[in-house]
Amino acid sequence: MIKENEIKKLFEEDEIQNAIKKLGEKLNGIYKDELYVICVLKGSVMFTVDLVKHLTMPVKMEFIRLSSYGSGFTSSGKVSAVDIALPDLNDKDVLIVEDIIDTGHTAKFLVDFINHNFKVKTLKFCSLLDKKIKREVKIDPDLYAFEVDDKFLVGYGLDYDGYYRNIPYIGYIEKA
Ligand code: IMP
Ligand code: MG
Repeated sequence: MIKENEIKKLFEEDEIQNAIKKLGEKLNGIYKDELYVICVLKGSVMFTVDLVKHLTMPVKMEFIRLSSYGSGFTSSGKVSAVDIALPDLNDKDVLIVEDIIDTGHTAKFLVDFINHNFKVKTLKFCSLLDKKIKREVKIDPDLYAFEVDDKFLVGYGLDYDGYYRNIPYIGYIEKA
C-alpha cells in the first residue's frame, strides 16, 4: 500500500468545495423542476453528496454501481454493471454525476443504457474531473470542474485498489 505522504497534492479540500459550489450554482440556473441525480458508485459518492447540498430544485437521488477499473492504474475499457436498478426515468430531467471521465467508456455505457431504457426529458453528464487526454470514446461531460493530466489520482472518492477514497483532497501517485 502506498503511504499517504507519497501522495502528491493536486486539489486542496477548499478548492474542490469552491468548484462544487460553482457547479451547483450552474445547475440551479439550468433546472427549476424535479431533477434525478444519479450517483455512480463508488467513486462519485463524495462529489454527489457535496454537490446536491447546493441544489435548490426538488432532487431525487439514485445510486448505481458500475465498475471499469481493476486494481491497476489503467482503465480496462470494459464496463460492468454491478447494480444498475433505476426508477422510471421517462420524461424526467436526469443528471449523471461522476468523479472522473477518463477513457469515456463508463460514461458512454451509462448514457446508452439510459437512452435505451427510457425516453428521458433531458440527460446531462456532470463530472468533477475530466482527463480529456485519455479519451477513447467520443463523449464529453456537459459540466466539469477540473481538467486533469494523465496522472493516477486518488482521494475524494477516487481509489487505488480500494484505498484512499476517504482522503478529503485529491492527489496523485506516481506510476511505477
Ligand atoms: P473511464 O470508463 O475510463 O472513463 O473511467 C471511468 C472510471 O474509472 C471513473 O469513474 C473512476 O472510477 C475510474 N478512474 C479513472 N481515472 C482514475 C484515476 O486517475 N484514479 C482512480 N480512478 C480512476
Ligand atoms: Mg467512477
